[in-house]
Amino acid sequence: MDAARRQEPTTVTVTGAGGQIGYALLFRIAAGAMLGPDRPVRLRLLEIPQGVKAAEGAALELQDCAFDLLAGVEVTDDARTAFNGANIAMLVGARPRSAGMERADLLAANAGIFGPQGAAIGAVAADDVRVLVVGNPANTNALIAAASAPDVPADRFAALTRLDHDRATAQLAQATDAAASGIRGVTIWGNHSASQFPDVDHATVAGRAARDVLAERLGGADAAAKWLDEVYVPRVAGRGAEIISVRGSSSAASAANAAIAHIRDSVLGTGDGWTSAAVLSRGEYGVQEGLYSSFPVTSDGSGYRIVEGLDLDERARRRIDASVAELVAERDAVRALGAL
Ligand code: NAD
Ligand code: LMR
Repeated sequence: MDAARRQEPTTVTVTGAGGQIGYALLFRIAAGAMLGPDRPVRLRLLEIPQGVKAAEGAALELQDCAFDLLAGVEVTDDARTAFNGANIAMLVGARPRSAGMERADLLAANAGIFGPQGAAIGAVAADDVRVLVVGNPANTNALIAAASAPDVPADRFAALTRLDHDRATAQLAQATDAAASGIRGVTIWGNHSASQFPDVDHATVAGRAARDVLAERLGGADAAAKWLDEVYVPRVAGRGAEIISVRGSSSAASAANAAIAHIRDSVLGTGDGWTSAAVLSRGEYGVQEGLYSSFPVTSDGSGYRIVEGLDLDERARRRIDASVAELVAERDAVRALGAL
């Protein structure tokens, strides 16, 4: 028996498993891309009744891959069954915005999903459960899920801004003709929405300050600042909408890739760099306590911690405050609905 088979499988629950992101996620998890090549996984796929067939189809295909690391797949439409003993919960399934739906309607519909799922996690998940919320509005859904699981430490919940982080890295690499692997220290602050602040002020390109490299290429510091404000920030923050308009539906494979990277780095560690995730604020950088806001984060394998002590100039402060104000408004709206 090899080492992988001797380990107890990690139970990974994926909600919305019959959807687009689910289909791009499951096979890579089963292949070891998320938890490493030595860790067997047991997959639990949660769907609503209308989505169960699609998830069952994915389960059949998973079986057909004969993955060495896959210890089993179960499909269910019952949240308690899905989260029973879950070590990792990836909350992807959400109610999308449909025609005529106001923002408050979307928040209400998703509160009706993430409240009960959070409660089920609190009731039946493993003691070491870590939760990643992908379904939008991701930050506020994470807040609702965490509030519904008061016995699970609130810092075990996070929302996905790794996709924004990777987009910000890729756009900076493209603008500087550098390899993405040579970009370090990009940060996404705030909400996973158009108000987010993709920040390169502490970033480096092949070891040099990103702002210096941009100034050299664009003809000075002022031109670099203008490009950052007028091109870079809106391009990264608007990338989700751009994908929807070009592809006809929202990002799926890149979102799945980012979700895998988020969990992988949380569990296996970030090494000597940092990444971005929407995690619980305890007041760091003046972000109101209790919100799930995106920060620069590291992990030694035990979960994400916020990188503290970075200097923020007036521009950064203003942009972060604007995005956090949106998070406060979302929180107040779900509070008014009785979801918190
Ligand atoms: P999709 O519509 O293809 O799939 C969603 C699936 O969730 C469907 O199969 C649906 O049946 C299921 N579902 C709905 N309610 C559920 C519930 N209560 N329990 C379990 N399953 C449920 O959508 P998708 O493309 O996979 O995207 C999923 C979500 O991820 C959307 O909210 C999308 O906006 C969001 N998203 C977030 C990011 C990010 O970076 N945070 C990136 C891309 C997409
Ligand atoms: C994304 O960032 O691709 C998704 O959250 C979709 C969206 O609505 O932007």
